Amino acid sequence: MDRLIVTGGRRLSGSVRINGAKNSALKLMAAALLAEGETRIENVPRIMDCLTMAEVLEHLGAKVTWDDSTLAVDTTSALGIETPYELVRRMRASIIVLGPLLLRHGRARVAMPGGCNIGSRQIDLHLRGLESMGAEFSYEHGYLEASARSLSGAVIYLDYPSVGATENLLMAAVGATGTTVIENAAREPEIQDLAAMLVEMGAKIDGAGTTTIEIEGGGPFGPARRRVIADRIEAGTFAIAACATRGDVLLRDARAEHLDLFLAKLADAGAEVHPSAEGVQITMHSRPLALDFVTLPYPGFPTDLQPQMLALLAGAKGTSIATENVFESRFMFVDELNRMGADIRTEGHHAVIRGVERLSAAPVRALDIRAGAAMVIAALGADGTTEISDLHFLDRGYEDFEGRLAALGAEVHREPSMWPEASSG
Ligand code: EPU
Repeated sequence: MDRLIVTGGRRLSGSVRINGAKNSALKLMAAALLAEGETRIENVPRIMDCLTMAEVLEHLGAKVTWDDSTLAVDTTSALGIETPYELVRRMRASIIVLGPLLLRHGRARVAMPGGCNIGSRQIDLHLRGLESMGAEFSYEHGYLEASARSLSGAVIYLDYPSVGATENLLMAAVGATGTTVIENAAREPEIQDLAAMLVEMGAKIDGAGTTTIEIEGGGPFGPARRRVIADRIEAGTFAIAACATRGDVLLRDARAEHLDLFLAKLADAGAEVHPSAEGVQITMHSRPLALDFVTLPYPGFPTDLQPQMLALLAGAKGTSIATENVFESRFMFVDELNRMGADIRTEGHHAVIRGVERLSAAPVRALDIRAGAAMVIAALGADGTTEISDLHFLDRGYEDFEGRLAALGAEVHREPSMWPEASSG
């Protein structure tokens, strides 16, 4: 297993292009299953999760071809209904094919995702919503067997604005008979991207991006051509890396309007933030100031930037408090930061971060995608050379992270491990 070797203390400067959003690309790829023919999706990041979703689609019989960052998905002969455990285990977001498969084939067999390193991650809201549209579910040997003679529109109240449940229900509702209303829907920009693609395919959707989405069932759906929006989480990750090194970085193509609260918090920490037509410029001159933040569904502070923000605040002037409201186990990586000299104490879903003057290098692990990014950020600002292992997590979400950081001036490279492969739990 490879390790990332990062020597801290280099200031990041220059510009980096922000890639297409992982959490949008994955759903646009699943939506391609609704059309017969070739859908083209541009600006797809070449990361492990997108390669896994391509495998899911191929397993279902679609033909997937990459041309640089453009993905062609030909679903003409996509007749499969099963997503195997091997793929769902690698990426639990594979569950997103459930809605499209039910709509297209009236049947689906999807391995149950189980928990992951950030929480138990239930799918009850996906299933309850689909049930109210007429789907039936049973469980056998770790698989969810789904069937629906037909899907009919329904009024669905989500207990919580789940991103995945909103997306699954949206993709089932576009072809159901009658009108579906999703109340307390997730409002993430990725939901709006998916809805825009579905509309281009022929769907009738109102209110995507608000808490009430109304879908008028119809079809059939034609293939679309769509460009994935810029990844707000990747943009936020590079922004924090710039701040941790007192750097000056232009995040090309980043969309400030998707990062309002996050950028306001960076400004509170002492960063200069300049949105422009090109992207967002982030400049930091001094040690960050402590601040408090609370993760919440969009437009709240994104949970996917919580670990990276903690890495920054670990070196801040003063004491910060972070509250994690989205995933119950998303502070697990804090022990790794503390191994680098951070002073962070967690109590339930709160973390108290007492800023230290400087973190110090240590061998650490990437415990999930964003925790991995947090360890890289901590290492960039630390004294000495840090070795980060379990890089497969980082590779799931960031394309050539080390190459792009190195282009900004970081001292970072990847090295094959001398040790036998260890289990990542
Ligand atoms: N939840 C339920 N029941 C459900 C669905 C969700 O209890 O049926 C709970 C989950 O257990 C969790 C919370 O609700 O505690 C949020 O889950 P949500 O469904 O909103 O998240 P998701 O769709 O599983 C997506 C992103 C995550 C991101 C979250 C929140 C993708 C592929 N993943 O997950 O991204 O953190 O929304 O914004 O879109 C990442 O990129 O590193 C990542 C984890």
